[in-house]
Amino acid sequence: MNKNYIKLVTTGRYVPEKVMTNDDFAAFLDTNDEWITTRTGIKRRHVAADDESAIDLAYKAALNAIDNAKYDVNKIDLIVVATITNPMKSPSIANLVQAKLGLNEHHVMTFDINAACSGFVYALEIASSMIGSGNYKSALVIGAEEMTSILDYKDRGTCILFGDGAGAAILEPTDDPNYQVHFYNGSRGDDTGILWIDPLVKMDGREVYKFATDIMPKAIDQVLKKANLTLEDIDLIIPHQANIRIIQSVAKDMNLPIERFLVNIDEYGNTSSASIPILLDEFKQKNKAPKRALMIGFGGGFTWGAAILMV
Ligand code: COA
Repeated sequence: MNKNYIKLVTTGRYVPEKVMTNDDFAAFLDTNDEWITTRTGIKRRHVAADDESAIDLAYKAALNAIDNAKYDVNKIDLIVVATITNPMKSPSIANLVQAKLGLNEHHVMTFDINAACSGFVYALEIASSMIGSGNYKSALVIGAEEMTSILDYKDRGTCILFGDGAGAAILEPTDDPNYQVHFYNGSRGDDTGILWIDPLVKMDGREVYKFATDIMPKAIDQVLKKANLTLEDIDLIIPHQANIRIIQSVAKDMNLPIERFLVNIDEYGNTSSASIPILLDEFKQKNKAPKRALMIGFGGGFTWGAAILMV
């Protein structure tokens, strides 16, 4: 079996019910709906309840993925969670999801990774490689964030951007060559504090914007080259949701209609590592037939993640 053939057998998501609108920010900050909408495309974001953390969001997204396919949870032997908002240094969220799923008596490897908004794509590459090694047969990969727990609500340039949520996918090996996966994940160390969480999000928005609009088309080109494919071969593009203007700029740069990109930033804002798997699940609940997707993320670190896979 070729080690790069990976099938997404199910996806799921969980987004908290509570919503914060742009007008809610205008009540305590010098901002307004018009500024936030035109500069970012964000109208609303979902906010975890007081008794909910990224751990609960991750677990609920995993349960949803399992339920959506009536998946046999006992098959899972690897759990990887991409997150930067675990309320605890240890245990990892992945470790706690194992316990909540009742898998403590099973042989499962669990760990979290920190690659900020590129985290889910990084986690997909890690899980795919581990499945490719032949040692794992069923990987639960989750992106889960309670971004609202690390925001400075006095900083109007950052706090209006982020929301909470989680998305999950289960991966298995297959011998179908159509399911070859390709990655172009990388990083450029940010040792000057352009986008840090220490302990709250601090960001130079313009510099991040420049980085994103520069790296996204380059990473898309690179992953296409690695896969020996062109944009014509791609059915859908799943971009990280940070700012609608960033997505529009990438579309323009690549001569692509904006309709080729999945977008839900108006409803959720930037949910960091959860944004790509939430979009993925929204798409999968409406489109059951397998499609070739290109995922493209960027984020703090700096990091970027590009993937081509069947979804
Ligand atoms: N409401 C009203 N005014 C605001 C504001 C808000 N929420 N936030 C900032 N402003 C003001 C600024 O203070 C500035 O005022 P000034 O001209 O008097 O100094 C003005 O709006 C323009 O600020 P600027 O930072 O240049 O705006 P921008 O067009 O670059 O948009 C971001 C700001 C943050 C929306 C944009 O830079 C961005 O999205 N960057 C990428 C951030 C990102 O994606 N981070 C996560 C990465 S995973």
